[in-house]
Amino acid sequence: MAIYPEEVVEEVRNRTNIVDVISQYVNLQKKGSQYFGLCPFHNEKTGSFSVSPQKQMYYCFGCGKGGNVFSFLMDYENMTFKEAVEELAPRCGVTLPQRELTAQERQRADRRSRLFEINKDAAAYYYKMLRSDAGKQAMEYFTKRELTPDTMHKFGLGCTSKYSDSLYKYLREKGYDDNILKDCGLVTIDEKRGGHDKFWNRAMFPIFDANGKVVAFGGRVMGDGEPKYLNSPETEIFNKSKTLFGLYFARKTRREQFILCEGYMDVISLHQAGFDNAVASLGTALTEGHAGMLKRYVKDVYLSYDSDGAGQKAALRAIPILKNAGISCRIINMSPYKDPDEFIKNLGAEEYEKRIQNAENSFMYQVRMLQNNYDMTDPEKKSDFQKEAARMIVMEFPTQLERENYTESVAAKFNIPKDALAKYILELGQSGITARRELGSGDDYQKKSLKPKDDGMKMSQRLLLTWLVETPDVYPKISLYVNPEDFEAGVYRTVAEEVFKYCDEGNPVDTARIVDLFMEDEERKTVAALFNTTVGELTDNSDLSKALKETLLRIKKNSLELAQKNGADLKSLVEGKKTLQRLERLDISL
Ligand code: UTP
Ligand code: MN
Repeated sequence: MAIYPEEVVEEVRNRTNIVDVISQYVNLQKKGSQYFGLCPFHNEKTGSFSVSPQKQMYYCFGCGKGGNVFSFLMDYENMTFKEAVEELAPRCGVTLPQRELTAQERQRADRRSRLFEINKDAAAYYYKMLRSDAGKQAMEYFTKRELTPDTMHKFGLGCTSKYSDSLYKYLREKGYDDNILKDCGLVTIDEKRGGHDKFWNRAMFPIFDANGKVVAFGGRVMGDGEPKYLNSPETEIFNKSKTLFGLYFARKTRREQFILCEGYMDVISLHQAGFDNAVASLGTALTEGHAGMLKRYVKDVYLSYDSDGAGQKAALRAIPILKNAGISCRIINMSPYKDPDEFIKNLGAEEYEKRIQNAENSFMYQVRMLQNNYDMTDPEKKSDFQKEAARMIVMEFPTQLERENYTESVAAKFNIPKDALAKYILELGQSGITARRELGSGDDYQKKSLKPKDDGMKMSQRLLLTWLVETPDVYPKISLYVNPEDFEAGVYRTVAEEVFKYCDEGNPVDTARIVDLFMEDEERKTVAALFNTTVGELTDNSDLSKALKETLLRIKKNSLELAQKNGADLKSLVEGKKTLQRLERLDISL
C-alpha cells in the first residue's frame, strides 16, 4: 500500500494547510476556530461543510463526507492517493523521492513513454503531410467543412499518405523497433508481409489526453466509404472509456458546464464557434469512466447528441450514467439539424447559444421520448403512457417536494389532468414503490444526518474521541477508566488505539495522519465523524463534566456487557465492574 515512504507523506501532510487547498474549490468563511462553506459533495443552500485548521480535516455535517487533505483531492478531483501526494508535494516544497521502481514497473513506464513518443511523432508526421502536396485532398476536405487554418492547427489535424506503409517506414527510420511498434495501435505487423499502417488515405484527428499528450487517433475517410471513422485500438496509453475528445481544451474553459457531443467534427466546430467547453466520447457510447472524468471538472453537462433516432437513444443511455455520477444534464435541441456541426454552419453560434439557454431538463426529455412510443390517440395507450410517466416520477424522485414539482410540470407539458396524476403517484408511493435513487442529492442529506442510523453508543464513543482530540487535558482522567478495548471493534477501536497512543506520549493527536490509515471512502467518512462530534450546547464546565462522566459510563457499561456476553474470564469482569463502580462514584471536574 505504501507508495511513498510514510515520512515523506507525513511531511507533505504537515506542510500543507488544508484550509488553503480547500479554499481553491470552496468559498470558506471563518467562524470561531473553524471554516465553513457550501459542501462541494452535495447540494445545499446553507453551509454545513467545515474545515478545521487544528485537525487538518474537513467534515460535512450534512452529508458526512470527511477526511484530510489527501482524501479531499481524492474525492473532489478523483485522484488516487499517489496523485494527491504528487499534487501537493511541489506546492509545499517537498521533493518526492524517485521511488525505486520494480523491474516490471520500470519496464512498463518505459514502454508507456515510448508509446507517447510514437504517437507524438506520428502526429507530427500526419500534420506535415496535410500541409504538403500529398495532403491536398485532405486539406480541401477540411476546408470544405469550413475549418480555419487556426482550428486545424489547434487540433493538430493531419492526414495519412496514400501508401499503406509510409508511417511504419517512417517510425522504423526514427529508430522504433517492431517490438514496441506492434503495440502502438498505428501499425499492424505481419510475419510474412511486414509492417503496415492501420490508417491510410484518411484525414487524421489526434486524440489528446487531459494533459495534451497524443494518445490515439481517429481517421476519417474523405468522402464516402466504410468505415467512416477508424479509431486507434486501446493501448497501454489509450483507454477509450476514459478519454474525452477535446478535454485538453475544455478543461480550461471558464464556463461552468461542458457540452457533451458525439463526434470529432462536432467538438471541433463548437470550439471554432467559441464554445470552448465541448467534449465527446469517441467511437464508443458514454461510459461510467467518462462520467467520472467529467465529474472532475463540472457538475452540469449539456447533451448535444445527434437529433436522429440513434442520437436520441444514445442520449437516453447517457442520462442515467451522468446522473449516477452526480452530474445533472440538460438536452440541447438541434432540430431541424442533425448535429451541432450542421447546426452551427446553418444557424450560427448565437442561435446555438439560445438553444443552450433553452436546453431541456433531462427528466422532461426522458418523458417526452417515452411518449413517442405510444399512440396518443388511443385512450388505452394514452393511459399507459401516463401511468408510466407517473411511475417514472416516483422512481426518480425521493422527496415529496420534487414529486410535486415534477407532477405539475409533466401534467402541464403532456396534457395530463394534474389531480389525477398526483393521486396516482400518491398511490404508487403508498404501494411501496420507492425511488431508485438513494436519498442522495439536495436537502435530504440534512434530514438523513439529523437522525443518524447509528445508536447512542457509537455517538458516545465518537464524542469521547473528539473530546480527547480537542481537549487532551482530560486524558489522564479518562485513561483511568476507559481504554481502546472498550471501543467498538473495527474503525472505532483502531482510531481509539491511535488517539490513546498520542495522548500517552503527551503529543497532540495527528488526526490527519489517522485518516490515512484507512483506504476506503466509507472508513474515512467514519473517521471524520469520529473527530467531529459536538456536545451540542453544553457550555459551562459543570455541564461538560457531567456529560463526560455519562459518556464514560455508557462506554464502560456497554463494553462490560459485551465482555460478559462473549464469555470473558471472570477476573477481567470483576476488574471491569470495579472500574465501573469507581467511575460511578467519581466526581470529574474539568
Ligand atoms: P457521426 O457519424 O455522427 O460522425 O459519428 P460525425 O462526427 O458527425 O462525422 P462527420 O461530421 O460525418 O464527419 C459520431 C462519432 O462516432 C464515432 C466517431 O467518434 C464519430 O465522431 N464513429 C462514427 C466511429 O468511431 N466510427 C464510425 O464509423 C462512425
Ligand atoms: Mn454527427
